[in-house]
Amino acid sequence: MTIPPLTPMPLSTLLGRIADEWTSRSRIFDIPTARIYDVSSGPDLSVDFMGRTAATPIGPAAGPHSQLAENIVLAWLGGSRIIELKTVQILDELEIGRPCIDMETIGFNIEWSQELRISESLEEYVKAWMILDILSGWDELKPHLGDDPGPHIFDLSVGYDLAGIRSDKVSEFIDGLIDASASIERLRPEIPEPFAAWREHDFDPHIADTVTLSTFHGCPPDEIESITKHLMTRHGLDVVVKLNPTLLGFERVHGILKGTLGYDELRLRRSDFDADLQFERGIELIGELRRFAAEQGRRFGIKLTNTMVVENHRDFMPEDTMYMSGAPLHVLSMTLLDELDRALPGVLAVGENAGEIQVSFSAGISKDNLGEAVGLGLAPVTICSDLLKPGGYGRLKPMLTTLGRAMEEAGAGDIAAWRAVRAAEAHAAGATGPVAAHVASLHDPDTNGAYTRDGTSKLPRAVDHELDMWGCVACNFCVTVCPNDAFFRLPTPEAMAIEGRQQYFVLAELCNECGNCLTFCPEIGDPAEVKPRIYTDRSRFEAGDRPGFLVTADGGRVGVLAAPDLGAEVARLTSIFNEAEGLPLRLSTLIES
Ligand SMILES: Cc1cc2nc3c(=O)[nH]c(=O)nc-3n(C[C@H](O)[C@H](O)[C@H](O)COP(=O)(O)O)c2cc1C
Ligand code: SF4
Ligand code: SF4
Repeated sequence: MTIPPLTPMPLSTLLGRIADEWTSRSRIFDIPTARIYDVSSGPDLSVDFMGRTAATPIGPAAGPHSQLAENIVLAWLGGSRIIELKTVQILDELEIGRPCIDMETIGFNIEWSQELRISESLEEYVKAWMILDILSGWDELKPHLGDDPGPHIFDLSVGYDLAGIRSDKVSEFIDGLIDASASIERLRPEIPEPFAAWREHDFDPHIADTVTLSTFHGCPPDEIESITKHLMTRHGLDVVVKLNPTLLGFERVHGILKGTLGYDELRLRRSDFDADLQFERGIELIGELRRFAAEQGRRFGIKLTNTMVVENHRDFMPEDTMYMSGAPLHVLSMTLLDELDRALPGVLAVGENAGEIQVSFSAGISKDNLGEAVGLGLAPVTICSDLLKPGGYGRLKPMLTTLGRAMEEAGAGDIAAWRAVRAAEAHAAGATGPVAAHVASLHDPDTNGAYTRDGTSKLPRAVDHELDMWGCVACNFCVTVCPNDAFFRLPTPEAMAIEGRQQYFVLAELCNECGNCLTFCPEIGDPAEVKPRIYTDRSRFEAGDRPGFLVTADGGRVGVLAAPDLGAEVARLTSIFNEAEGLPLRLSTLIES
């Protein structure tokens, strides 16, 4: 049997977990109340995205934070209001090498599309949509989320070739999110207490009507053009085309990464640039798609950028090729924005231009540069690498509060006013405009330290201690860096004689062995392997990909079955899981023992 990398939890389990975790520990999927963002707590951060309003300009970039329903809920609780869903493509049984994420310094990865079957992706997005609606109206959350969390947008992401996108499977997926009535009706009866009143709720079935096309490396320009036209005409979607940093050309990228920023170890291959869209053709393509969209009464936008393809020079992940993200990508993508803005004067809706083409952005966004990106008119500004660092989804709220504070200090009550402030500041400093001013600061050795190799080379904390099943330095990093919230922690019962005040556990079916907790765990060892692996699905448990424990409902208590050789731990786990702050899963959603 092929073991799927992820087994999503049913809607009833997710909602049961939300309610029980809230009652027993005031958290939802491990995010504490202090990290839940209230949109009424600062200035108006709402933005327009392709004619729709979102209450904040940020969200997770297509990636590991927008794949499972709970990831999307976490991103929304943190303040995301434009969610770029994980890219869906026809190949939905890809074997991805592990580990697949390397965030030790800047950011590299080798995974770039969904790890669920297409039908499962559809269901995850519908479940997330329903949960957000339920939580928006849940009185318990109002003191933290505010009375009205404001509108949010789910932006589809599809790839990577026309044949796949035109296939029945992908077409049905897209149609199923444009009108999700059938899925909602099927899921509605699953809604458990205390949310049962929402079984009658009028959920909006129109989950998405925009799509970001992920054009991966090597996707020919004609194909990009045909896919965009297909998505506009067959599905009636507004389309954003996500471009690659290779558009800047080999010499420019080489000069920036190695010359300006000092990343001498990066290995760029000229052939990757030759195979990608070239700048002049890119300008033509933007012109053609802009004309076509206008003709069709649709909107067209661009997104800067996808990751940068490089040869794998490190020994953490398998594969010869990997994809770079984070701080240096920010410099490349902003430089590309400046180039495109110059080549298409007044066309892009950035800086001081009203511009007809909206530009969304994902490249090395953090708390420190979000204000600049939003002040350029980029929307949405999406984030991936920064959310894979310790703090995880909890890093979103400080991004928004820092932005809000800067706006308040400048007297800007909304994003339009903030853009005007930033433009005035750029001119006062002698720049031709705000885009040019930001790009100049990224290339200036006096101001670009945070983007250089020296500025990004600090390694995660390490202690000289072998990781054990019980006890550790309890830094909580494995909980926060996991995009799937696969890790959870529980207090050690007072009477239990084991090391440590907190114990850490992995929900095995949510762990795709991406390696991110291994990178950040300060102890020696892989938390996803060493800490107790908890299964709820009998077949996954019995398949024994990695040995662990099956949790069951056992006469009104949590029961535990162990894989061979782990039997000695059963009594301890049973005791911990039956404490007041026990297993964060509702008994009624567990299988009977
Ligand atoms: C682990 C990982 C997975 C990603 N998966 C996708 C994907 O499925 N589709 C996509 O268009 N981009 C994907 N990306 C790229 C991100 O959406 C984003 O464009 C890029 O990482 C740059 O943003 P960042 O610097 O904030 O990470 C992925 C990035 C990472 C790190
Ligand atoms: S538990 Fe660790 S390896 Fe598993 S998905 Fe989470 S971060 Fe990745
Ligand atoms: S397992 Fe590692 S990362 Fe997780 S809390 Fe313990 S020391 Fe920190």
